[in-house]
Amino acid sequence: MLELKNIKKAFGDCVANEDVSLTVHRATIHAIVGENGAGKSTAMKVVYGFYNPDHGEIIFDGKLVTIRNPHDAIALGIGMVHQHFMLVDNMTVAENIILGAETGSAANLDLDKANANIRKMSDDLKLNIDPNALIEGLSVGQQQRVELLKALYRDAKFLILDEPTAVLSPQEVEEFFAILRRMKDQAKTIVIITHKLDEVLAISDEVTVMRDGRTVGHVKTSETNAKDLARMIVGRDVLLRVEKTDANPSANVLEVENLVVDGRHGRAVDGVSFSVRAGEIVGIAGIEGNGQTELIEALAGLAKPRSGQISFEGRNVTDRSARELKELGIAHIPEDRHKRGLLLNSDLSENSVLGVHYRAPIAVAAGVMSSSAIEKRVGEIIEKFDVRPPNAELTAKSLSGGNQQKLIIGREFELDPTLLLVSQPTRGVDIGAIEFIHRKLIELRDKGRAVLLVSAELEEVTALADRLLVIREGKIVGEVDPKTASFEEIGLLMTGG
Ligand SMILES: Nc1ncnc2c1ncn2[C@@H]1O[C@H](COP(=O)(O)OP(=O)(O)OP(=O)(O)O)[C@@H](O)[C@H]1O
Ligand SMILES: [Mg+2]
Repeated sequence: MLELKNIKKAFGDCVANEDVSLTVHRATIHAIVGENGAGKSTAMKVVYGFYNPDHGEIIFDGKLVTIRNPHDAIALGIGMVHQHFMLVDNMTVAENIILGAETGSAANLDLDKANANIRKMSDDLKLNIDPNALIEGLSVGQQQRVELLKALYRDAKFLILDEPTAVLSPQEVEEFFAILRRMKDQAKTIVIITHKLDEVLAISDEVTVMRDGRTVGHVKTSETNAKDLARMIVGRDVLLRVEKTDANPSANVLEVENLVVDGRHGRAVDGVSFSVRAGEIVGIAGIEGNGQTELIEALAGLAKPRSGQISFEGRNVTDRSARELKELGIAHIPEDRHKRGLLLNSDLSENSVLGVHYRAPIAVAAGVMSSSAIEKRVGEIIEKFDVRPPNAELTAKSLSGGNQQKLIIGREFELDPTLLLVSQPTRGVDIGAIEFIHRKLIELRDKGRAVLLVSAELEEVTALADRLLVIREGKIVGEVDPKTASFEEIGLLMTGG
């Protein structure tokens, strides 16, 4: 269905695709894997006409094609779902789907016909999407399906999915994969980019591995396993399990009492109490959207609680600002790195001192920053956290997703915090970097620091946490021992089933 031959694509000095050659067979699911920055997204954006290759050939459906822009791609039957959804919140599903797809004036638009079409497509694939629903009322998983419908509505027979499961709960991933299998049965061809090896093994027929801008391997999924795949991706053996000793906790660092935080639809956090001690990692498991975001934002000083108390090292800090909390020793790795974590148009140097730019050693006088101190800081982060490419002058925007995450994590670790608040630390991060980040979190704990970890990945949160709380509808509904609790048990608490 698709053949790429010796695709090359550079951005200035940065060669994102050096030599990409791969074959995707018709009516199969093809996984593309590789480290952060390997060039996966770039290669697929070339296929979708988002970038034009500097060199190489694209053969689609048996013909040599030139894809100048996404219009050309769509005309050929190629669709792409990006990692960041591109839906308009206050419009309906149907309006979003036909947006840009219908030709002719708005007056000619036959919304009823479009609605019927969408409903039929949704029914055929059991997507369970109401064309009249507003986007803002849909869960992340449902929005994902709207993105799929959008591509299918444009008659896509070849679908590219760039890290589609990164934001889905385990339950939603299962449903999503069932949908992909039904699409395959309807003779659609699917390319999926993912960092999760269990997903590769569960859903794909074939796998292509990329490294440093090149395609370096191709296997049939039935003939490989997680360990071999990991070695092909990273070029060495990877520890796929977390290794840690038992925690050795001491005094309470964080105490939360009866905290209530308002969200967009009423109470997001509804009377939560817990504590985190020095030397332990407390995990919070839950389906996304159950108050985790608002809880962490309140603890980081980014949202005002309605009531309740937050104490840090015995002091009431409920009404402190984000900056004051940072000064006291609370670091925060946010879940949404585009919204909260980075200045995308600023370079890595500026991003590496974000939040500490006004004080020593970065600031040498009021409003004056020391360029040597900044250089030192950014150099250390790039080196210790393996940010690639290691060039402090690049804008944050030009880094691949996983490398943006490493930059933020490095910056917060450089603060040497007493308490680290961390959400979804390894979302979009490659397996080598996951191993590294997990080790760093455990090292921080073993230095006697307190860590509060929110993760939608049950595997991650059970492997790292010393104590595990489950949150549902803004309430802590249980505490389990992560060493002994089964995923079923935790899942039941999460869903209330
Ligand atoms: N628009 C751009 N401008 C400059 N450099 C870019 C641009 N897009 C990508 N790059 C660079 O090209 C390389 C490949 O990036 P790409 O996004 O394709 O990687 P990826 O394999 O998708 O990584 P990830 O798993 O982190 O998403 C990276 O070094 C990245 O910094
Ligand atoms: Mg990518």
